[in-house]
Amino acid sequence: MIVTNSQSPPLLVTGAAGFIGSCLVRQLIEHSDAQVLSFDALTYAGNPLSLGAALQSERHQLIRGDIRDADAVRAALMQQRPRAVLHLAAESHVDRSIHGPAEFVSTNVVGTLVLLQESLAYWHSLPPAERAAFRFLHVSTDEVFGSLDAGDPAFSETTAYAPNSPYSASKAGSDHLVRAWHHTYGLPTLLTNCSNNYGPCQFPEKLIPLVIANAVAGKPLPVYGDGANVRDWLYVDDHARALRLVLERGVPGQTYNIGGNAERRNLEVVERICAILDARRPSSAPHARLIEFVRDRPGHDRRYAIDSRKIERELGWTPQETFDSGLIKTVDWYLGNADWVRCVQSGEYQRWIERNYTAR
Ligand code: NAD
Ligand code: DAU
Repeated sequence: MIVTNSQSPPLLVTGAAGFIGSCLVRQLIEHSDAQVLSFDALTYAGNPLSLGAALQSERHQLIRGDIRDADAVRAALMQQRPRAVLHLAAESHVDRSIHGPAEFVSTNVVGTLVLLQESLAYWHSLPPAERAAFRFLHVSTDEVFGSLDAGDPAFSETTAYAPNSPYSASKAGSDHLVRAWHHTYGLPTLLTNCSNNYGPCQFPEKLIPLVIANAVAGKPLPVYGDGANVRDWLYVDDHARALRLVLERGVPGQTYNIGGNAERRNLEVVERICAILDARRPSSAPHARLIEFVRDRPGHDRRYAIDSRKIERELGWTPQETFDSGLIKTVDWYLGNADWVRCVQSGEYQRWIERNYTAR
């Protein structure tokens, strides 16, 4: 048991060693007195080192476990008695989902089903006061709403689902399961749909960290298609703050959209990273000479935009970072953490995980 303060049952965070999960856990340990049980399969995308100081905290424990493994999930719930499950574990990269969709259905749909079933059984076992306080927070994406054209209104909580990639279809499937477990069984669920995150510890296969890592290494910066696809960008710490607010103040059964009010064309994003790097590393400027337009992603969604007014109005959340301030922090983090990038790109950290973390 991690619980050093028996007054406070832990929060169980799945996908805690990933990009957003690790940011959330770092925040919870640094800025609250929460006990945190990190539950993560430590796939290629999960890195215990991303948990930073939380790894040493007495209020934190990391269990290597797979959400598809009902026994492992049940043991974590029944032995650690969390007051909430924050579900971030997923296969998250669209390009990988196009090449290998089965793993996405397996983890994102079947894994969420297992977690819901085990959480429901655990919830039923709780005494009334704890049952009333329990929450299941499911973290999802704006991609479930499909693609917008220029001038279309932003996605709201009532926008119809229209997922276009195997990734977004699998996330949509998991969202529907969460909705059904609330509607049919009364499980107190909360659901969030967030736009593109960026910040420290993001695996360098996603646009922003890939472009930073490649630019630093003098490699080509691949821009899909015409570079005019639009994403709304949110600094990861702002997302983690929103999740903490939804957990504490969100209404069971409700969904909340979370966005950065920062729509940018991909080419603008890449050029801005190059400009920041030009200032930081003038000897290799101009980094924009490395930009290469490459074959488009099949089924590439044209534009995402999020209407976050509900979470702003009801929970008082707004993003603190602008795109520019967040991007400068992000570039600086990658420049200062070249070893992290090297280890995840070479697979060195994965070999270290196999030596140090046994699966439950
Ligand atoms: P990530 O790929 O960086 O991390 C995913 C984590 O889940 C990893 O630590 C991995 O080891 C773990 N994991 C994968 N399969 C697992 C399994 N079967 N059992 C247990 N753990 C498993 O992802 P991320 O970018 O941090 O995204 C976290 C969540 O937020 C995902 O559900 C994603 O769909 C959602 N989301 C991401 C973004 C974004 O821009 N990154 C935006 C909106 C929503
Ligand atoms: O919108 C939220 C989603 O954002 C999350 O649910 C996903 O987990 C997350 O991966 C992200 O999906 P995207 O597909 O939008 O992110 P990605 O970083 O892969 O790509 C961002 C944009 O940049 C997209 O339009 C494709 C483009 N791109 C991407 C890569 C990797 C390029 O032009 N070149 C690239 O090399």
